Amino acid sequence: MRLSARDLTLGYDQRPISEHLDLEIPDGRLTVIVGPNACGKSTLLRALARLLRPSAGQVVLDGEDIHAYPAKEVARRLGLLPQTSIAPDGITVADLVARGRHPHQRLLRQWSERDEAAVVKAMAATGVTDLSGRLVDTLSGGQRQRVWVAMVLAQETPIMLLDEPTTFLDIAHQIELLDLCLRLNREQRNTMVAVLHDLNQACRYADHLVAMKAGAVVAQGDPKAIVTAELIEDVFGLPCRIIDDPETHTPLVIPRSHHANRRNDVRQPLRR
Ligand SMILES: Nc1ncnc2c1ncn2[C@@H]1O[C@H](COP(=O)(O)OP(=O)(O)OP(=O)(O)O)[C@@H](O)[C@H]1O
Ligand SMILES: [Mg+2]
Repeated sequence: MRLSARDLTLGYDQRPISEHLDLEIPDGRLTVIVGPNACGKSTLLRALARLLRPSAGQVVLDGEDIHAYPAKEVARRLGLLPQTSIAPDGITVADLVARGRHPHQRLLRQWSERDEAAVVKAMAATGVTDLSGRLVDTLSGGQRQRVWVAMVLAQETPIMLLDEPTTFLDIAHQIELLDLCLRLNREQRNTMVAVLHDLNQACRYADHLVAMKAGAVVAQGDPKAIVTAELIEDVFGLPCRIIDDPETHTPLVIPRSHHANRRNDVRQPLRR
């Protein structure tokens, strides 16, 4: 495995979020992390990307502690789409996407054709080519999210960590983006890790699903093997049924509804 977490303890100001966490990211596969708000998904991703130093344990990238590498070297191997990012004031779409090429820039090296090609390709893949001259501040939420994804794609790293890449996207753009992740994975053998909140999309796209709760990994594996009503109830506290997704034959999570029953009750003739 190129990327793994060994006995990690992560936290902020002495407050632990995850303790003794072990995780191996399967090479060349698409891993999806799911779990309730505040369970530590983004914290884990930040640690895997070297942005957060663990208080114990280590993240191992290509056989070495990730903190043993210079930041730029990590950025040539691994790209992160953070959950929230703030664009520099007054920057255009093309300039922001071009920043994805910084890790590849060397002292005295000019912008190359390879850099240009990577930027053009990333913008086309995310459908933001027509926005290239626009100021990032003036874009809609979904347009802006696709520009950030383009920046990570332009980085052209063999490992990509995407924290809720589908946020702000309409359903068609969500599917388009997940299909793009799958394509990068299948065609270029990229190792992809995405945090998603949509469990049904997670089950559809994940080769490897990781379910987290309160900072710990509670289940992982093929979604078909691990997703049960018991697991979802345990992780999210949500009673549900699991049925077969008729389109992909992966698990489809149907939350139980009290409203449905109540509505039926109301339709009953009132007896006095
Ligand atoms: N910079 C920070 N300083 C202090 N506490 C933080 C910081 N970032 C996150 N936390 C806390 O750490 C816990 C885990 O947060 P994290 O962002 O990892 O959750 P998450 O699983 O990504 O949630 P979400 O689904 O809402 O994005 C939360 O209680 C959060 O308030
Ligand atoms: Mg998060």
